[in-house]
Amino acid sequence: MKTIFSGIQPSGVITLGNYIGAIKQFVELQHEYDCYFCVVDQHAITVPQDRLELRKNIRTLAALYIAAGLDHDKATLFIQSEVPAHAQAGWMLQCIAYIGELERMTQFKDKSSGKDAVSAGLLTYPPLMAADILLYGANLVPVGEDQKQHLELTRDLAERFNNRFNDIFTIPEVRIPKIGARVMSLQEPTKKMSKSDENQRSFITLLDEPKQIEKKIKSAVTDSEGIVKFDRENKPGVSNLLSIYSILGNKTVEELEVKYEGKGYGEFKTDLAEVVVNALTPIQDRFKNLVESKELDDILDAGAEKAAFKANKMLKKMETAMGLGRKKR
Ligand code: AQP
Repeated sequence: MKTIFSGIQPSGVITLGNYIGAIKQFVELQHEYDCYFCVVDQHAITVPQDRLELRKNIRTLAALYIAAGLDHDKATLFIQSEVPAHAQAGWMLQCIAYIGELERMTQFKDKSSGKDAVSAGLLTYPPLMAADILLYGANLVPVGEDQKQHLELTRDLAERFNNRFNDIFTIPEVRIPKIGARVMSLQEPTKKMSKSDENQRSFITLLDEPKQIEKKIKSAVTDSEGIVKFDRENKPGVSNLLSIYSILGNKTVEELEVKYEGKGYGEFKTDLAEVVVNALTPIQDRFKNLVESKELDDILDAGAEKAAFKANKMLKKMETAMGLGRKKR
């Protein structure tokens, strides 16, 4: 059975972007692959986090993975910082990564732009992400479009390590969904939807109340044409809403264009809000029962143990290949 690894940062409550670009894919793939899914809390601290808020977001994210359909009997779910091999392997990969290639990462440029103080971790986060993936020998990494560049770097680092030391890493492939790979901000539809966006109206979280969802969709930026038509270039706002509707409402974009022909944006947005609420309500119901439960702790304890068992084997191979430590007598 081939292996999958993917992670999500607990840098806020996850958005429709994270759900459509990542978790929805995970749920579909868990039946065909040996899956490792992670709450990547060490990635989240590359930018400042409130301690209590971070703890809350970690638990929330873990519960949302399960509430959204992840079956812990099929997939291994765990928290990155609870498996120390990630940080250890991340350091080794940092030592073969070049500063120049890390500085070229679009996400680093976006997140550091205009900031006075930028953490070193923000720059060196891609080798840690590479470690996350390579420790499990992942063949496939399902992510949204924004992570494609980091995946290419992961492949480069794996090949560099294999050529320089020993051929131990599987070179992973990226899997990006056909629709919804880049869900856009509701307020600036040329920018991706992000859970840490300062403008709360720009994203819908998986835990938003129906009234909030309705309000956010009603105030989503469109254009003055009043025509429901998919055109990413000239109508980014409407196209983004159409993509969300299509994925969560199980209708093609063409069907939706016909349905709303001559109807304007009011009715379209009202119906879309209903579709989003209907998709999120069952997830929210399951989440409420799970988030403070012992069951969640048991799932995460078992997940960390299983992940560590696999990750430690690869870590040993990495250390041997690089010549770290002593040979055991
Ligand atoms: N807008 C998006 N559309 C589709 N997929 C998305 N992903 C993120 N945003 C979108 C995918 O979600 C997974 C988890 O992402 P992450 O939390 O590890 O980091 P991120 O990509 O930086 O996500 P955010 O929401 O933008 O977080 P912050 O605000 O903290 O930077 C990945 O597979 C990602 O592709």
